[in-house]
Formats: sequence, structure tokens, C-alpha cells
Amino acid sequence: MADTHPIPLIDLKTQLAQIRAEIDEAVLRVLGSGAWIQGEDVRLLEREFADYCGAAHACAVANGTDALHVALRAYGVGPGDEVVTVANTFIATGEAILLAGAKPVFVDVDPATHTMDPAKVEAAISPRTRLVLPVHLYGHPADTTAIGEIALRHGLPVLEDAAQAHGAEWRGRKAGSLGHAACFSFYPTKNLGACGDAGMVTSSDEGFVARVRQIANHGAGTHRYDNVVLGTNSRLDTVQAAILRVKLRHLDGWNEERARRAAAYGAALEGVPGVVVPREREGARSAWHLYTIRVPQRDALAEHLKARGIGTAIHYPRPIHLQPSMASAGGRAGDLPVSEQLSREVLCLPLYPELPLPDVERVASEVRAFASRRAG
Ligand SMILES: Cc1ncc(COP(=O)(O)O)c(C=O)c1O
Repeated sequence: MADTHPIPLIDLKTQLAQIRAEIDEAVLRVLGSGAWIQGEDVRLLEREFADYCGAAHACAVANGTDALHVALRAYGVGPGDEVVTVANTFIATGEAILLAGAKPVFVDVDPATHTMDPAKVEAAISPRTRLVLPVHLYGHPADTTAIGEIALRHGLPVLEDAAQAHGAEWRGRKAGSLGHAACFSFYPTKNLGACGDAGMVTSSDEGFVARVRQIANHGAGTHRYDNVVLGTNSRLDTVQAAILRVKLRHLDGWNEERARRAAAYGAALEGVPGVVVPREREGARSAWHLYTIRVPQRDALAEHLKARGIGTAIHYPRPIHLQPSMASAGGRAGDLPVSEQLSREVLCLPLYPELPLPDVERVASEVRAFASRRAG
């Protein structure tokens, strides 16, 4: 009889079960310490994560959206300013720019990697541009070399949205050290995920990270009640930091397991008519946060897989320049043809480090069955 057991898109519980003893020890230690906010584990995580990324400094914040928002504020971005970014991303990228009072200027993406197309950046830069914000979507690094050269010519910093790219590499350097600064999310489903919300800003610019820290902690100066700039409360809970420190030790191993599964999908889906599989650009090592294929009959394939117990997701069904919440940025249908086409065709297949390899084969064979039925 055919194997029909459910295959979820993602399974967080299996991973937690494997490291449960380490997590329990860390959580109980923090509970017993009484230092539940800004405890020692927060500082240690900042040090360890900065080292991991190859950045000199890091500041932990409450979540990835805050990481972007607080970083933009630390650059002094505000009303009248523009930030060049992509629409093929999660809403938080654009949200943070609008929350800072600035305007996102969206450019299209390269269809092969789904990340910022460097050829589109120059034309989007105006005298009001304050920085360039590429996104390492699905864990694949944006071409920060080409983007960085253009930004440098205009005297603009590059801020990486590395929320999906813990451990990704571009030309031998890790996400988090590819621009002037980088923002990470540790949302539970991320490659490095907390048991709740958490985020981080990394940079080798000490003064910049000090400004991030200040804004994230009510704009406090040297004295706690000396609030010198308008800030916010975006501190990280110690218990999340302690959990993330445990998980950071496993990150490289988990990313390798993700890459093995991505390679297995790539081999099994190679040449399937109508299916475009993701490939790493030369010089790139994806963190394989998501395994995202392109298929013209995307919705029908998602239904086909769902009927067979296979979970999928669409990241993202609408490019953010077309989201009502971004209307003030003036985006219109047709502005970004590649991003708009991708939003109609992308489908994420199950991928997580513990996904059994035979399950990859079963998902792939269902995709093949769907494609051959369509072709036949
Ligand atoms: C590309 C991108 N940017 C920003 C964020 C925001 O992170 P958070 O959910 O931690 O606020 C996310 C994640 O959810 C993301 O995927």
C-alpha cells in the first residue's frame, strides 16, 4: 500500500526533543538567576553570534522587525528619507522603513535567486536615499558585492535583512558581515529560532551598535533615567538568549542537514517539465531556510500535495509594494514584473533539518506525478 503519512512543512517539536535536556538546563538556570531581562546570557549571545557572523559587535533586540526598525533609526533615517529595498520579502522589511517615517523605494529581483537585482539599484537612488536594504530571501545571500559597489559610489551604507539567512555565505563571508550592518530574526521557524520572539543587529561599527543599543533601551544615556534620544523598549529576554546560545551550537550541523535535503530535492526534481528548482549562485552558500520551487500551476500543485498530506506554503503570495499597508509608498501592479510573477508561481516544499530523506523523495515524486499528469 502507498505510504500516505503526513509530511508537514516544518516540524519544530522533533528538533526540540533532540536538545531538550540542554534547553531545560539553560531555562532553569535563567529562572533561578532572577536576571530575566538583560542577564548575562544576553551579552554572551551577542558576543557568540557576532563571532559566528564575523562581525565585531552585536546588539540583541526583541524581534527581527525591531532589529530593522531600530537599525534604521540608528542611521538617523526619518521623514523625507528613502530606502532602496525589495518587495519580494516579508512585510516587516517595508514596515520597518515606514515605521521609521521614511519611504521604501522598491526594486525588482533577480529571477534566479529571488534577491535584489543589482542592475536595478542605481536607477532607484535619489538625493533622498539614505541606505540600501537587500534581503537574503529563503537563506540565499543577495549579491552584496555588486550592490555594495553601487552603494559605495553613492556614499550609502548597505543594511542586510538577514532574517532568513543565519549561516548563509557569500564569497566566504557570512551573512551578518556582508554590509555595514545586518538584522536577524530568531522567530521560532528560522534556522536559528528562539522559543518566542527575538532578534539581533550585527555590525563591525562599534558606534553604530552603541546607538542601536541606546534606542532599543529607551534612548538611555550613561544613566538609566537620562533619556537622551527617543527610544523604545526592544530588549531581549534572558531566557530566549539562553535558549539561542544552546541552539547556536547546533546551527552549522542543522544547516548542513538542510543543504543535504535541498540537494536531494534538486536531484529528484531536475528536468521535471514546468518546475524550476532553486540553485545557489556561484560563490553563494544558501542557509536553505526555505526550499522554494516555481511552477506555473502553483495553486493546483499545492492542492495536489495537500490532498496527499504534504504541507506547503507560499512565501509570499503578494509582493509587498502591492500590500494595502504599503500604499503610501505608491506601488502599482506592473511596477515589478519579476516579483509579481514570482508571487504567482512560488511554492515552498517541506524542509527542516530532521525531515527524513525518504520523505523528500516522496514529496518530489508527488511533484513529478503532478507535472507528468499536466504534461500528458
Ligand atoms: C525577511 C524578513 N525580514 C524581517 C522579518 C521580521 O522578523 P520578526 O518576525 O522576528 O519580527 C522576517 C521574519 O519573520 C523576515 O522573514
